[in-house]
Amino acid sequence: MQALITHRTLPTRIFNALSGKAIFSPGAKVHDNVPIPTINSQQLLVKVKTVALNPTDFKHMDALAPPGCILGCDFAGEVVKVGEGAAGKWKVGDRVASVAHGGMYPDEGAFAEYAKVNHDLAWPIPGDISDADATTYGVSAMTAMFALNARLGLPFPGSKENAKPAAGDESTIFIYAGATSAGLFHLQAAKAAGYTVVTTASPRSFELVKKFGADAVFDYRSSTVVEDILAKYPNLTKAVDCFSEGPSSSICAQVLKPKGGTVVLLLPNGESKVPGVQFEMIMLYTVLGRAFQMLAPLGPKFEASQSDREWAARYYSALPEVARLLKPTPTVSLEPGFKGVLDGLEKLRQRKVVGGKQVVQLQS
Ligand SMILES: NC(=O)c1ccc[n+]([C@@H]2O[C@H](COP(=O)([O-])OP(=O)(O)OC[C@H]3O[C@@H](n4cnc5c(N)ncnc54)[C@H](OP(=O)(O)O)[C@@H]3O)[C@@H](O)[C@H]2O)c1
Repeated sequence: MQALITHRTLPTRIFNALSGKAIFSPGAKVHDNVPIPTINSQQLLVKVKTVALNPTDFKHMDALAPPGCILGCDFAGEVVKVGEGAAGKWKVGDRVASVAHGGMYPDEGAFAEYAKVNHDLAWPIPGDISDADATTYGVSAMTAMFALNARLGLPFPGSKENAKPAAGDESTIFIYAGATSAGLFHLQAAKAAGYTVVTTASPRSFELVKKFGADAVFDYRSSTVVEDILAKYPNLTKAVDCFSEGPSSSICAQVLKPKGGTVVLLLPNGESKVPGVQFEMIMLYTVLGRAFQMLAPLGPKFEASQSDREWAARYYSALPEVARLLKPTPTVSLEPGFKGVLDGLEKLRQRKVVGGKQVVQLQS
């Protein structure tokens, strides 16, 4: 099959990681003779039709991924083979979407003609949802639900837990960078859980974040952003930093200063310097239930987590219902094929993607 395969050497990757540059680009090439993945009894083989692009894809291409790995996380397509342990639930021809740990393995990744997936870490795409929209419920939506539900204890949208009224001050949450793809799902999921949602965005994205559930939005570039938020919301105890770069995490900590609490980060961005406020970083790949190391052999190691893996299976079983309550992020379709993927990753790297997700049709 064809697949987009990483090829950077370790010294180049270290240089890129330290400098934030991407020398010798592109760091991945389309290979024509990649073996079609073999599946075990619990897995599905999927003909990949549509993929969505995430910042993690270019970060893996530039620095994090060893050579010889298939890139890409979010995909939607058609089941072409079913492991015997999954036969009661899935059949050939089903439409399916899922998330792969792209840039980590030679036989698993979304930017390929075929991808394999564990049958309980995938969802059947409802007939009225397009493949493009289905891909947006991958990395971005799952990260939002993982941060809010598994780490901050908010209920799943639509679950019975929602019947409990959220108590007092804790019913307001702060989402930094609500206009990111992850942010748009955080806003919706927190709103669906009954929370008042306070966020930050550029003025260009104020309308967008309101449409996705923000009750109040503040400009993250304003020099008085912390004071402005505290003047109206002095009792915040929960936050998610959907940007997690530069001053964003410290702004979150300041906003939680009066009461203390937890800020979930999506990238490592220092320690909290505010007493009573702790940072907790998540890395979505832990939900896939395998140990891994980024930028091996030098980068951070993550242990396999059985509880995160169980959470992911719950997410996928709830997703047909959750997708009725949380709308997909806006999508922009790029040129079909691997060229569209590489062009889109370059736009993401240059931070030219605003207010939605780039999607690419790989096959019809
Ligand atoms: N740890 C994990 O498991 C995990 C999971 C998902 C994502 N992430 C990481 O989270 C980050 C966001 O990912 P994403 O795919 O959601 O992002 P994205 O959709 O690519 O984000 C684009 C948005 O970023 C906002 N933005 C640009 N510059 C900003 C700044 N200086 N401060 C605040 N917002 C800014 C823009 O909104 P405005 O119009 O408001 O400027 C823009 O719409 C990435 O670094 C990604 O790698 C981590």
